[in-house]
Amino acid sequence: MFTLAEVSKSYGGKTLFEDVTLTINREDRLGLVGPNGAGKSTLFKLILGHEETTSGQILSQRGATVGFLPQENAPVGEETVLELATSHLHGDEFGTFDGSLVASAKRILKGLSFRDADYDRPARTLSGGWVMRAHLARLLVQAPDLLMLDEPTNHLDLETLLWFQEYLETYPGGIVLISHDREFLNHLVTGILELRNGQLFSYSGNYESFLEQRAAREQQQLSAFKNQQREIARLQEFADRFRAKASKASQAQAKLKQIARMERIDAPEAAAATVDFSFPQPESSGQRVMTLRGVDFAYGDHVVYRALDYQAEKGERTVLVGPNGAGKSTLLKLLAGVLKPQGGERDPGLRVKIGYFSQYRSEMLDPSRTVLEEVFDTPRLIRETDVRALLGCFLFREDDVKKRVKVLSGGEKSRLALVKLLLDPPNFLLMDEPTTHLDMGSIEAVIAALTDFSGTLIFISHDVYFIRALATKVVHVNAGRLTPYAGGYDYYLEKSRATSARVALTAGLQNGRPVEPNRPPAPNPEQQRRDQRSQKERREQAADARRELGAQRRQVATLETDIMRLEERQSALSSELQKPETYTTPGRTVAVNTELKTIQNELSAKINAWEAAAARLSVMEASAT
Ligand SMILES: Nc1ncnc2c1ncn2[C@@H]1O[C@H](COP(=O)(O)OP(=O)(O)OP(=O)(O)O)[C@@H](O)[C@H]1O
Ligand SMILES: [Mg+2]
Repeated sequence: MFTLAEVSKSYGGKTLFEDVTLTINREDRLGLVGPNGAGKSTLFKLILGHEETTSGQILSQRGATVGFLPQENAPVGEETVLELATSHLHGDEFGTFDGSLVASAKRILKGLSFRDADYDRPARTLSGGWVMRAHLARLLVQAPDLLMLDEPTNHLDLETLLWFQEYLETYPGGIVLISHDREFLNHLVTGILELRNGQLFSYSGNYESFLEQRAAREQQQLSAFKNQQREIARLQEFADRFRAKASKASQAQAKLKQIARMERIDAPEAAAATVDFSFPQPESSGQRVMTLRGVDFAYGDHVVYRALDYQAEKGERTVLVGPNGAGKSTLLKLLAGVLKPQGGERDPGLRVKIGYFSQYRSEMLDPSRTVLEEVFDTPRLIRETDVRALLGCFLFREDDVKKRVKVLSGGEKSRLALVKLLLDPPNFLLMDEPTTHLDMGSIEAVIAALTDFSGTLIFISHDVYFIRALATKVVHVNAGRLTPYAGGYDYYLEKSRATSARVALTAGLQNGRPVEPNRPPAPNPEQQRRDQRSQKERREQAADARRELGAQRRQVATLETDIMRLEERQSALSSELQKPETYTTPGRTVAVNTELKTIQNELSAKINAWEAAAARLSVMEASAT
């Protein structure tokens, strides 16, 4: 359908890739992979004729239909969701709406988790991710001969992703897709194209098999490289030895020419940069970070939560799992204060500073600024060396930092947003799919940063690797109910007896209740008697430790309440000082000032006590686990 002959592309003298030669056939199922910024999206744009090649040719088969899903910013106008899904797109204009497609459009929209009520909604009222979904529906409805999808799973939650994956498995046409999602690629593709270091390599098989072949190829390249280096050394030695002798001078020259003529084999590149950087840390928050008490929330008449209680504690790294539509993102937004509870209360703890990162966080960047300008736009005083080190961890090189945000690739924008966040982190981070758009190297950098993070993290992700690396607590969200698991992802898997790590992410629990773990077999009675005494002692010791821990937690909490009260009183008094009538009431200013002074003293004593108590608590907690 497409033939690329020696295609090259550069931007302002910088070569993105060179001499790419490739044929795409009607029955192909190809995955295009490679690090952020390698030029994957650009290659798609060249194939589609949205951008010009710098050199080389692209031929397309006449009459073949192609459907394209861009990585970001799909067009949207006044049309409804259903109209969008049934329309033919010409350039950026919506063409005819085809009534005969309504039935299949509804089926596909449903699969992509739209609700019936959404069909007549104007598409521009949808959030960015849902606009992309509506476009994805449009492509599937049209069923072109070739689908070209640029990171289609970025906009999907896991349940929808599984539906989509199944749909594509039986898709009649060809598919070329860009993705960083290994499992998705493994299910779908029969060939991998890898864009790396300016070259395109093709491999047959799925992603797993690509990794094996690439490792073998690198091994081969390494030994070829070593052989060549040995040969060069031998020739060079010969030339050096005989150059001085007149009788051998011409032979020496010949050897040097031989070296010069050799087609050099490159050394295989070193593994991705490792993270060697200590991340800035936020100021410490109170032990109790956030409480939701009896919170109600509904979208129209669709009730998501009724009388919801939730408590976030300092230092937890919690992942929210559960089926699509169960309310994970809603919970995150309620905690963040982006959505307001319609009943009950939301109560942040002491000195909690919230950072909420939606899947579309890169929309918060200013397209006209450069990478460096964007990073320095933060209230915190940051050192240039830190900035450069952190940019380096996230694989921004020297010449990348002068680029404007608007030319950055999807992954580069996501990485920039993360760098900004990590340079001045709030102490309570709420993140919705933080790894979207990121390649493997950058995901490792995020994991390193968040492992170091001393604040509290609550996140949603469908990347099992990422979750395993980070989560210290799992909260299963289902039908408005929360079931906490006080352990990492594998602990949750064991407790919920899930069959697969990925499916468990969206699993509902059996009978709405967590399944009991397997009990260990009972020991024999004699053993039991022998164990009993020491068991009793151990139990008593554990109980003591728990009591102490409980007392310490209460002490910290009491101090926090005291501090909050004092701070409230302090601000009430300060605002009284702003009012003219304070000064006209005899003796009032003196009284206010005296009380303020007392409060300030009390406050600093309480804060000192709190800091000591909180520090002791964290030591106790560390030794309790
Ligand atoms: N107009 C431009 N001027 C300069 N550089 C550009 C321009 N457009 C794109 N680039 C650069 O070209 C590189 C390739 O971008 P592209 O969007 O193709 O990457 P990608 O492989 O799709 O990456 P990602 O995985 O992050 O989506 C990026 O480094 C980007 O900054
Ligand atoms: Mg891209």
